[in-house]
Amino acid sequence: MTSAEKWSPSSWRDKPAKQLPAYPDENAVRDVEKELLTQPPLVFAGEARNLKSRLADVAAGKAFLLQGGDCAESFAEFSGPKIRDTFRVLLQMAIALTYAGSLPVVKVGRVAGQFAKPRSSDTETQDDVTLPSYRGDIINSLEFNADARIPDPQRMLKAYHQATATLNLLRAFSHGGYADLNRVHKWNLDFIKDSPLGARYEDLSSRIDEALAFMAACGITGETVPAIRETEFYTSHEALLLPYEEGLTRVDSTTGDYYGTSAHMLWVGARTHQMDGAQIEFVRGIHNPIGLKCGPHLEADDLLRLADIINPNNEAGRLTLIVRMGHDQVEEKMPALVRAIQKEGRNVVWSSDPMHGNIEKAASGFKTRKFDNILSEVKGFFNVHRAEGTHPGGIHLELTGQNVTECTGGAEKIGDLDLSDRYHTHCDPRLNANQALELAFLIADELKEIRGERPMMNTDYFAAAE
Ligand code: PEP
Ligand code: CO
Repeated sequence: MTSAEKWSPSSWRDKPAKQLPAYPDENAVRDVEKELLTQPPLVFAGEARNLKSRLADVAAGKAFLLQGGDCAESFAEFSGPKIRDTFRVLLQMAIALTYAGSLPVVKVGRVAGQFAKPRSSDTETQDDVTLPSYRGDIINSLEFNADARIPDPQRMLKAYHQATATLNLLRAFSHGGYADLNRVHKWNLDFIKDSPLGARYEDLSSRIDEALAFMAACGITGETVPAIRETEFYTSHEALLLPYEEGLTRVDSTTGDYYGTSAHMLWVGARTHQMDGAQIEFVRGIHNPIGLKCGPHLEADDLLRLADIINPNNEAGRLTLIVRMGHDQVEEKMPALVRAIQKEGRNVVWSSDPMHGNIEKAASGFKTRKFDNILSEVKGFFNVHRAEGTHPGGIHLELTGQNVTECTGGAEKIGDLDLSDRYHTHCDPRLNANQALELAFLIADELKEIRGERPMMNTDYFAAAE
């Protein structure tokens, strides 16, 4: 494929496509596609351009990217408090990172559209029954029976409407006063408040209060500076289910360019980034910021060719490389990619996804991830950037604001046997709010160190938890 080939929102249909469902009734799919084309866009092209310019700052080492949310959003677990809690933990993490790194944090949720899941196997077997795999609520249902697993195109419309309601609430939280820095104490979740981590967060909030009081005395308040009372929050998901993405592609009237309007940023997953494949064909023609997952088997030459296809003009902020190699491979495999990108002078954001290379099966049978392995992959990612002199631009996490028990370890020391307590994910195990905040503090320490200073606070708080 060359970027000179003609692109249209449907040109992906002429390419081999992985991970797409085989819908039993093609007419029913076409009806849904037509309906999606008549629906209002979820995001405005100008917002996607703003995010691109924020990511250009990240590429230049002047900001840090925090991207996170559910592995898979679900129709059943959809509620205002759940959206609020995820938003809140991301705000808390952003505060820790901003304060430590003295860098603006670009906040991007895996939310309001993160419904489709790539699967390593097309089928699932329980006892002696084999059924098609669950592919996310936008495609079929998690229940283990033959009817539930039939792909249903109507689910695309349901996902679209859930995404609109989710985005509506997120916009309200971002701009309606919830994200006001003067409320930083109030974001502390009840179940974190009483933990050692809560104390560390309270300490940070008090410092921010002091800074705000000083600024207010100088005449700088939320009234005069909107950044104090509101925040920018962007949405993202994997560009996997292309009929949905095509149905929400629009021409921007300001520039005449195509944008995917299902989210501000879309990424291509590790299983679907074949150079001549449908997902890469789709994203090359839309002008949003694009992410590309980079696994341990991605060769530097292939990465450069993918960067050419996705970002032929080498525009800063267009391409985010999301590295997910596993804690035991990142330091060995990532340097070749970083060197190739540097040598060719490509503008990219480097982000670490320490989740998808660290999945394992616990003795109890649950799919889990160890907090220590997650942390160790992030540290490996930082080490490589330190050695290569490049910017460790961001972090990509699967997390929830709920008090779940899906990943083991962390300050609460969740063990294999605790996993069954509150294991709610529809797909991969997520960090709970405590683990997410703990990780943010530990990354904050790395950022601080890179800035040549002492860690932001001592780690006695964690020692006190023992
Ligand atoms: C994901 O981000 O949910 C995912 C499936 O990641 P990857 O494509 O990196 O495996
Ligand atoms: Co996942």
